[in-house]
Amino acid sequence: CTDKLWGGRFSQPTDKFVEEFTASIDFDKRLYHQDIRGSIAHARMLGKQGIIPLADVEKIVHGLQEILDQIEAGKFDFSVSLEDIHMNIEARLSAKIGEAGKRLHTGRSRNDQVALDIRLYLRDELVEISAYLDLLIDSLLSQAEKNLDVIMPGYTHLQTAQPILFAHHMLAYVEMFKRDKGRMEDCLRRMNVLPLGAGALAGTTFPIDREHVAELLDFPEVTRNSLDSVSDRDFALEFMSASSILMMHLSRFSEELILWSTSEFKFVDLSDSFCTGSSIMPQKKNPDVPELVRGKTGRVYGNLMALLTVMKSLPLAYNKDMQEDKEPLFDTIDTVKGSLKIFADMIREMKVNAATMRQAAAKGFSTATDVADYLVRKGMPFRDAHEVVGKSVAYCLSRGKDLPELTMEEWQGFSDKIDADIYDAITLEASVNARRATGGTALERVKAEIERVKSGR
Ligand code: ARG
Repeated sequence: CTDKLWGGRFSQPTDKFVEEFTASIDFDKRLYHQDIRGSIAHARMLGKQGIIPLADVEKIVHGLQEILDQIEAGKFDFSVSLEDIHMNIEARLSAKIGEAGKRLHTGRSRNDQVALDIRLYLRDELVEISAYLDLLIDSLLSQAEKNLDVIMPGYTHLQTAQPILFAHHMLAYVEMFKRDKGRMEDCLRRMNVLPLGAGALAGTTFPIDREHVAELLDFPEVTRNSLDSVSDRDFALEFMSASSILMMHLSRFSEELILWSTSEFKFVDLSDSFCTGSSIMPQKKNPDVPELVRGKTGRVYGNLMALLTVMKSLPLAYNKDMQEDKEPLFDTIDTVKGSLKIFADMIREMKVNAATMRQAAAKGFSTATDVADYLVRKGMPFRDAHEVVGKSVAYCLSRGKDLPELTMEEWQGFSDKIDADIYDAITLEASVNARRATGGTALERVKAEIERVKSGR
């Protein structure tokens, strides 16, 4: 009474709306390649183990390859009544090759099949995401190198703090994206384990060779517990957590680019091709790309929360709830890839306004700490030096002056330890280049860091 692959025990057809409600084909069809690849490996193993006839294996492999070609040519009719990608492909195979096709699912369940498919899929995507991270890191390095001696204000609390090299700021993001890459690689390592062979939950009665399947599919290991194999979505959650952190980094960078492109800052010009205009205000050039990336960070966090909440309190092993893993996962992959790609291109084309940055760096008493450090070098304890410089800043504020504009007499009124060499000690270059210890903003240090990153150390 039903055309389902699982229809044996049913006497009534599935309600039409239930069919639509429970189907995942609309979104899991993107797993077709992985599903076919997994099935081919499974079939070959079944044949090698004498579980199904070798002649059937050949028919299965051939049939699946034809289906693959059909899907890729856009000639495959996906059917909602066949629920998901696994049954769409299996049903088509049996329709094509008969008996042999019906043997493919021996010793396997959709539960371990889907666990395999997602891992295969995410594994490839992780490699791509890593490559996009490399592209972005390259863009940052090229901006750093192009603008090696550009000085900008460094901020804390978004208040001018100390002058830094613009290149140093770019390298800060390089460090973040390198950690993001590391997180993706960690995730890949833990994910790269074959779940197929877990069956529905308990394993299988057939003498399968999981290690052989692992070899065919390039997995260094097989999972050690069948229940866990079909229950586990940690790998997706781990990827989505790493993605959330990555997007958090991109959102901070976005925010800075948005700020830096305002007419108040004018530190950078984003290329016209990454901005849009206003339908009413003719002068406008809006930084849509960083704004959207900042916004999309929200959906990536949301996706993580969605899947964490789906998985929360689920009893072992598979539950249909878990079908809800795919949309947030796929959306995260697409969003992260898109954001990285567009950022890499946008950063590469960004113009840096060195003069504006330099002017801003000279304001806000950015070298006050250098005066304090100067006094410390002349023997004053740091806390006392801090107090002295604080007073000189207050004095400047009341006179509308800047620290480099103070006369020798004025300086000596604050401390007799101050000599004429103070003027050289508080130039922007002196301030930046004095910060020479590992991790500092000095030009020589930044150059060395660029080289270190480029040589992959
Ligand atoms: N479409 C299902 C999913 O994505 C495949 C696994 C179905 N397993 C089951 N026992 N209904 O989760």
